[in-house]
Amino acid sequence: MTLLTTHSTTILRGQTLRFRDDPFAVAPDAAVEHHTDGAVAIAGGKIIAVGPAGDIIAAHPQATIETYPHHLIMAGFVDCHAHYPQTGIIASYGEQLLEWLNKYTFPEECKFGDPAYAERIASLFLDELLRNGTTTVCAYCTTHPGSADAFFTAAQARGMCVAAGKVMMDRHAPDALLDTAQRGYEESKALIARWHGVDRLAYAVTPRFAITSTPAQLEAAGTLWREHPTTLMQTHLSENLREIAWTRALYPDAPDYLGVYERYGLAGPGANFGHAIHLSPREFAALAETGSGISHCPTSNLFIGSGLFDMDAARGRRPPITAGLGTDVGGGSSFSMLATMKASYEICQLRGYSLHPAKAFWLATVGSAQVMRMDGSIGNLAPGHDADIAVLDLASTPLIAERTRRAADLWEVLFIQMILADDRAIAATYVGGVKVHSRDGAPLGGCCTNAG
Ligand code: GUN
Ligand code: ZN
Repeated sequence: MTLLTTHSTTILRGQTLRFRDDPFAVAPDAAVEHHTDGAVAIAGGKIIAVGPAGDIIAAHPQATIETYPHHLIMAGFVDCHAHYPQTGIIASYGEQLLEWLNKYTFPEECKFGDPAYAERIASLFLDELLRNGTTTVCAYCTTHPGSADAFFTAAQARGMCVAAGKVMMDRHAPDALLDTAQRGYEESKALIARWHGVDRLAYAVTPRFAITSTPAQLEAAGTLWREHPTTLMQTHLSENLREIAWTRALYPDAPDYLGVYERYGLAGPGANFGHAIHLSPREFAALAETGSGISHCPTSNLFIGSGLFDMDAARGRRPPITAGLGTDVGGGSSFSMLATMKASYEICQLRGYSLHPAKAFWLATVGSAQVMRMDGSIGNLAPGHDADIAVLDLASTPLIAERTRRAADLWEVLFIQMILADDRAIAATYVGGVKVHSRDGAPLGGCCTNAG
């Protein structure tokens, strides 16, 4: 792959979509800047301008222009909750959370003691994300530190912005997957020193969930996060009713599930709570007050049968809870953030709430970036942001083409994509200005090396 040189400029021309505001706070039309003949100028791996094609081309006469005539150019998707080691067990039949973990997940995670296996699956996982237009992920590894080394190495090789962490887990799982409070702390600390802030990589302190960590380990995780405040923290919260009952039994002194994490200093900005389905009013309020984030993982919640996330309780309140969308592979059933938006829409429908496409696309980009505290640099098609971009073919199948011809406005066009489209719609994916995926097999690596 050829990297952009700092002096070369590339222009991607097509429909462009940029968020200017939060569509949960303002009307959809006020939340976006959309150009039907738009352009994005890229130099040095960054977006340097977005606007009407005529203006952008006139301002950058030396630029190389790549035209996407019937496409939407938007920020790459941000998947704020996924388990890369579960790639090989996606689509496993018939169980709900605790049984699913024991029957499929833990046996598969045992294999990640083998660095070669970890490397192979990390590469498969990241390439599958890129094929789906996802340029950033917040990922769980396994307990093995080598699983995190493999993941960061593979993401670094692709120039990707990712966060990840070794799972901390010292009880209620197979012996081969257990660390201890002390070992989990030390291994995570060493990984932070090795990877956090290197290139586009960030570390997430990762106690799996309250059931698989002793109080001593949650204490150690809280200490570690306090000692490294620029890292993220990720865990699971209130996904399944049996999980919640067991957690309450293991932590009888806590007021509720979130209260367990709060007690150990594991809430606040940069805390990323997966699922957050069955929450009490106190827990919703505490998430908002502490500035914690939620990863809504709708395909997983349907597939494992966990429950219906309450979007209105999370995002309809003032101030809203920071929230984004996660695939939760392999509990989730798709790598596609389009499929994830569709599942979110369907879950919201079952709660009598219609998720507007502006909100869905915002959650899948800006919202997820906010959960990861990276919204200053990724998740939007904005000048100054890293040039992580997805190019959507708006007519990727005959049915979508037919349906889109009848669309009255931008919102219908986007809604059709999130309901009907899949990886076939991802014509190209750019990471740091470099084309890393081309659906039609065009040469990778550069659109943009021969202009001055
Ligand atoms: N809770 C604890 N671990 C997991 C996991 O791997 N997947 C899901 N969906 N929930 C979890
Ligand atoms: Zn998960």
